[in-house]
Amino acid sequence: MNCILKAKNLYFSYSKESVLEDVSFCVEERDFFAITGPNGGGKSTLIKIILGILKPQKGGVSIDSSLDRNIDFGYVPQNTNINLEFPITVLDVVLMGNGSKHKSKRGLLSIKYSKLEIECAKHSLKKVGMENYLNNKISDLSGGQRQRVMIARAICSHPKILILDEPTSSIDINGQKEIYKLLKDLNKELTIIVVTHDLKVISNYADKVLYINRKGYMHNLDDNRFKLDRDGHFCEVELMQMLGAKDA
Ligand SMILES: Nc1ncnc2c1ncn2[C@@H]1O[C@H](COP(=O)(O)OP(=O)(O)O)[C@@H](O)[C@H]1O
Ligand SMILES: [Mg+2]
Repeated sequence: MNCILKAKNLYFSYSKESVLEDVSFCVEERDFFAITGPNGGGKSTLIKIILGILKPQKGGVSIDSSLDRNIDFGYVPQNTNINLEFPITVLDVVLMGNGSKHKSKRGLLSIKYSKLEIECAKHSLKKVGMENYLNNKISDLSGGQRQRVMIARAICSHPKILILDEPTSSIDINGQKEIYKLLKDLNKELTIIVVTHDLKVISNYADKVLYINRKGYMHNLDDNRFKLDRDGHFCEVELMQMLGAKDA
C-alpha cells in the first residue's frame, strides 16, 4: 500500500482518560476515506491530530514527503462559526481562507486581495456551483449552500487532501446529497477524508472506513460487498454490523 498519510499505534489523551488508543490506518492517494463512530468516540480529535493541531502522546501520523500540511491540506471544521449577523459576502468568506497570508492590524476586511486571489476564489466557487452568489450575504444562503462555500474556501489553495468533519450535520436531505455529489466529483482530483454518521454515504462513496470508538477499526470497502442495492436497507444493516462487530 502506498500511504500518503499513515497513523501508527497512535495514543492520545487530553487528561488522564485516554481518547484514542492504538489507532492505525493508511490513506492512499484519491481515497474517499470515511471516519465514523459514536459521539465522543474521538473522531474530531483524530482530525486535529491529522492536521497537526494536536500532538499524540505516543505514535503519530506521518505524511508523504511530497506533502506540506500548510498547503496541501484543506479543512472544513465541524461547526463553522460564521457569525450570521455579520454582513459578509460569499466572496469574502472564500478569500478569508487565505487570511493567514495577510496579517493585517486593521482586520481581515480591510485587506486588499490581489486580482489573482480573487480569480482563484471565483474559480473555486464555480467548482462548487456557487459562482452566481459571489456578492450575496452568507447569511442569506441555505445551510447546504453555505457549506458549499466553506468547501470552496478549503479548496481555494488547491489542496491535495480535503478533510471535512461532519459536513452535512445541519443540512436538509437534498442539501446533503448535493454535498456528497460534489465531494465525489472533487474526489477525481483529490483525496477526501470525511467524518460522517451517514451509512448510505459510507456504503455509496467510501473506499475505506475507519470506525473510531477510542480504538480504531479499519475496513476496506473497495470489494463492492457493501454497495447498496436499489432498496438500500440490507447492505446498510450489514455494514452497521460489520462496523460495530469488533467494538465489544
Ligand atoms: N479540548 C478538549 N479538552 C478535553 N477533552 C476533550 C476536548 N475535546 C474533546 N474532548 C473529549 O474527548 C473525547 C472525544 O471527543 P471528540 O474527538 O470531539 O469526539 P467525536 O468527534 O467523535 O464526537 C470526548 O470524551 C470529549 O469530551
Ligand atoms: Mg466531532
